[in-house]
Amino acid sequence: MHSQEINGQYDTSFIRDTIQGLSAFPKSLQSKYFYDDRGSIIFQQIMNLDDYYLTNSETEIFEKYSREILRYIIPNKDFHLIELGCGDGIKTKILLEHLVANHTNFTFVPIDISELSIQSLSDDLRSEIPNLKIEPYIGDYLETLDRLHNDKNFDTLPRMVLFLGSNLGNFSHSETNDFLSRLSGDLNEGDQFLIGLDLVKNPHTIRRAYDDSEGITKEFNLNLLRRMNLELGSNFDLKQFEHYTYYDIRNQEVLSFLVSTQDQDVQFESFDKIFHFEKWEKIFMERSHKYTLEDINILAQTHGFEILENFLDSREYFCNSLWRKR
Ligand code: AVJ
Repeated sequence: MHSQEINGQYDTSFIRDTIQGLSAFPKSLQSKYFYDDRGSIIFQQIMNLDDYYLTNSETEIFEKYSREILRYIIPNKDFHLIELGCGDGIKTKILLEHLVANHTNFTFVPIDISELSIQSLSDDLRSEIPNLKIEPYIGDYLETLDRLHNDKNFDTLPRMVLFLGSNLGNFSHSETNDFLSRLSGDLNEGDQFLIGLDLVKNPHTIRRAYDDSEGITKEFNLNLLRRMNLELGSNFDLKQFEHYTYYDIRNQEVLSFLVSTQDQDVQFESFDKIFHFEKWEKIFMERSHKYTLEDINILAQTHGFEILENFLDSREYFCNSLWRKR
């Protein structure tokens, strides 16, 4: 597994991004750091919540349309199936089983920031689909993608890149454009991109997905404070932060915050810094953007892709959009 080098770099990024985010006004943290081992497990619990409809909808699409999705792959030609941010990979397993059953020749390349997720997915797949060729990477997927692009072995074979679960929704407008430009630049003509995006729907349904009654999403957010306490030597008191989230219908995105219930100082031992929190001061934690089919059209066109097909679940909550690089 290719983790050593990437992880070394990743720790310093965590420190740098944390200092930057907490020194800014308003304060913010990056949601990609939610996924330490504990955070990845809490996220799996979120995916099992009925309120968090995204996972069920996307799984329904995979169960119904795997054959159609894979119809565009050139038969008898070796290719790389690359997944950015695979997490536990349950949805992908449906595609993989289908490909292996049809004796398709390919290598599965899962990339994820969570070592635990990559490790358990790899172990799971090796026992469940023993014939599968798998080459996992641990790291930030943008950095890893660029690295792979510069690797000769990778650039010669056709690729299908998976980016599921509406992970794109965490990006701001400019980050979205940067990401899709970089991805588009890393692909060759004819390469395919399957992206899962959460669609605009009843705003109450959307809001509930991020404010579950069991408080698991709250735990997911607070876990990042716990992670900083463990890895960066801070002394956040988790009891002194409230979780608040709402759906901004105008900008089609859920925004999540932790709010300091006290006037308080938080000290970071590892880099000898103190951050002050006013009573009711917020930390912006995460954005989860929602899309119309027209938004998806524009994203594809703007970045040099042609939409081959849009796959929707029966409730029309979620879209897996299959793109082809022009
Ligand atoms: C994994 C980024 C798609 O934004 O819906 C779930 C993460 N945050 N509940 C999302 C998340 C709160 C999730 N993504």
